[in-house]
Amino acid sequence: MKLRTLILGCLALTAASAMADELVKIQTDNVDLILKVKDDGRLTQAYLGKTLRDTNDLGWLEDGREAYITHGPEVYFEPALDVIHADGNPSSFLRHTSHATTSPKAGVQETVITLEDQKEPLTVRLHYVAYTRENVIKTWTEIVNRQKKPIQLKKFASSMLHFYRPAYYLTQFNGDWINEAQMTTLPLAFGKKVLESNLGSRADMFASPQFILSLSQPATETSGDVLLGQLGWTGNFRFTFEVDREGWLRVISGINNEFSERTLQPGETFQTADFFFTLSSAGLEKASHDLHDWARRHQVKDGMGDRMTLLNNWEATYFDFNEDKLVGLMDDAVRLGVDMFLLDDGWFGNKYPRSNDDAALGDWQETAGKLPNGVGRLCDAAREKGIKFGIWIEPEMVSQRSELFEKHRDWVLMFPNRDPQEFRNQLTLDLSNPKVQDFVFGVVDGLMTKYPEIAFFKWDCNSPIMNPYSPYLKDHQTHLYVDYVRGLYSVLERIKAKYPELPMMMCAGGSGRIDYKGLEYFTEFWASDDTDPAERLFIQYGYSFFYPSKTICAHVTTWNKLASVKFRTDVASMGKLGFDIKLSDMTADDIAYAREAVRNYNRLKPVILDGDLYRLVAPYQSTHAASAYVSKDKGHAVLFTFDIQPRAVEHRHNVVLRGLDSNRRYRIQEINLMPGQDTWVKNRSYSGDYLMNIGLDLFTGNKLNSRVVELIAE
Ligand code: DGJ
Repeated sequence: MKLRTLILGCLALTAASAMADELVKIQTDNVDLILKVKDDGRLTQAYLGKTLRDTNDLGWLEDGREAYITHGPEVYFEPALDVIHADGNPSSFLRHTSHATTSPKAGVQETVITLEDQKEPLTVRLHYVAYTRENVIKTWTEIVNRQKKPIQLKKFASSMLHFYRPAYYLTQFNGDWINEAQMTTLPLAFGKKVLESNLGSRADMFASPQFILSLSQPATETSGDVLLGQLGWTGNFRFTFEVDREGWLRVISGINNEFSERTLQPGETFQTADFFFTLSSAGLEKASHDLHDWARRHQVKDGMGDRMTLLNNWEATYFDFNEDKLVGLMDDAVRLGVDMFLLDDGWFGNKYPRSNDDAALGDWQETAGKLPNGVGRLCDAAREKGIKFGIWIEPEMVSQRSELFEKHRDWVLMFPNRDPQEFRNQLTLDLSNPKVQDFVFGVVDGLMTKYPEIAFFKWDCNSPIMNPYSPYLKDHQTHLYVDYVRGLYSVLERIKAKYPELPMMMCAGGSGRIDYKGLEYFTEFWASDDTDPAERLFIQYGYSFFYPSKTICAHVTTWNKLASVKFRTDVASMGKLGFDIKLSDMTADDIAYAREAVRNYNRLKPVILDGDLYRLVAPYQSTHAASAYVSKDKGHAVLFTFDIQPRAVEHRHNVVLRGLDSNRRYRIQEINLMPGQDTWVKNRSYSGDYLMNIGLDLFTGNKLNSRVVELIAE
């Protein structure tokens, strides 16, 4: 309180001296991040928020907090950077030496700010890439050792951001297998809240590498200042949210430094992971729209491209299949009208055939007993039937019962002189080793060379790193977690360079691994092994804040038979639609319905996959849920409504739309109807104004009931 009064009292003086300070502006259409270079070279964060419209006000900005706090000048709270210099000095005092802004392409501006320690030869470069139209800022840091001997990096954050608001609310996405992306919101008060992962290869398993931060008050879909942040790193991450005694919040984002201290050799540069964020002053919806647009245009592999519907055999057969069964399932795919057949786990291994999950990972040759004519015959069959063929791999992993393990124990992460701990009966290969990287690249390259018709890969990762010891890294074991992920990226980079058009699904026993750096190499991700559609409504809702629907794979399975095939398919149609089911598990009406639903989906793909998402009723808030996708020109929309577990007596409200043009009229039509099913939602026309004020009475009192309504502007 005292300090605040003092600051206000000195406002004129602060502003006057601030005029002399240089400002570095990182700007998007709606967001300003303004840094200030002080007379003594210190760099502070003077402002982060909605664009300041009148530049005459900039001189009034207070200094704010040091932009990238190091251990040394401040030791009270957690720093962004902690270095032990070659001479043993544990402090770093950084001063601005230069900055520059360039525009690598239209709508993208990159600012690099160079800071140096005046006593210890250390350079730190802060990078900020502003995507102006999408209001997304990507930031990372480079740390350069200019000393004659190695230095130790103890903490090396990608980003530090400061906020000074009356209150803060953090939404985290925690979970586990078949329970991903569960949302919890809590207020942040004095002290620290840490979200982190230590699982090595599975960055999304218990905690997720993303968060929502509401400023001043909890944001709603359409109101409030809110930041959506994510670390682009397919490995251990750490977010620290620390509120100090004056009510300032610092948010430090980066690779988890736990068991990851790094030795930086003379002349070496360490580049941190990327931290992405967007800030909206109009609530969550705007933030998601911006992130989705950015993801499609700038980040996701083939982000603007189409996606294939598919039939996957996993839930239909598990490991129990042969060539005939698979070819039969291809006929199911054709009857459903999907684009591709995806062969899952269980097709490889000969000395130890993969008939369950305890063998053969690493031996990527077709099991002769199951597939006597190899994958080639399956490619031929798919081509003859007019569909594409995709295949599952898990190339980072090895089974102890495998020829690879027998030949290359030195390629496996295992503590010396200890029995390895397994997770799902498997171990992890040492991707810090370039020879292992070649092997993993060779799994994809080998299959593509032999069977160039393979049109899709599902890349699984069913284990965290259980035995974090690399035979390759020898006395640099604390480099393992970072070097593993770098090794993975180097493999994925080679695959992308050689097969730029190849779509790939990122999977990790459900979505145990998902982040935006990974999506640079993958076109989509498997959101969960939990395909119970009622549960999926929550999981897909959670992911929808960050990811556009074209990246969220959603399949129709036999999970929750209390739910109709229609309900299951309607839920899956909100993402990237697929099926994991045998037609023999469906009635003739179900099949007729599903064929029609696939046809509708194909027609509506441009709206569902590339339109704007409106989360109208959250499953968390109600026993119902509703979302709409609206095309960018507002001419076409699809509305999905779900009655999950309605109460016997309840007040049901209309579903009120958003995002339409209030001056246009829309013809509405219920689609995805079961054969013979009637509806009142047929050929009526409403104004956008009516639909966005009064809405439609679409919820019912029936459990596990769903409706899909198409709206076309007249
Ligand atoms: C875990 C995945 O999430 C499933 O979809 C399936 O591919 C299995 N692995 C196969 O082992």
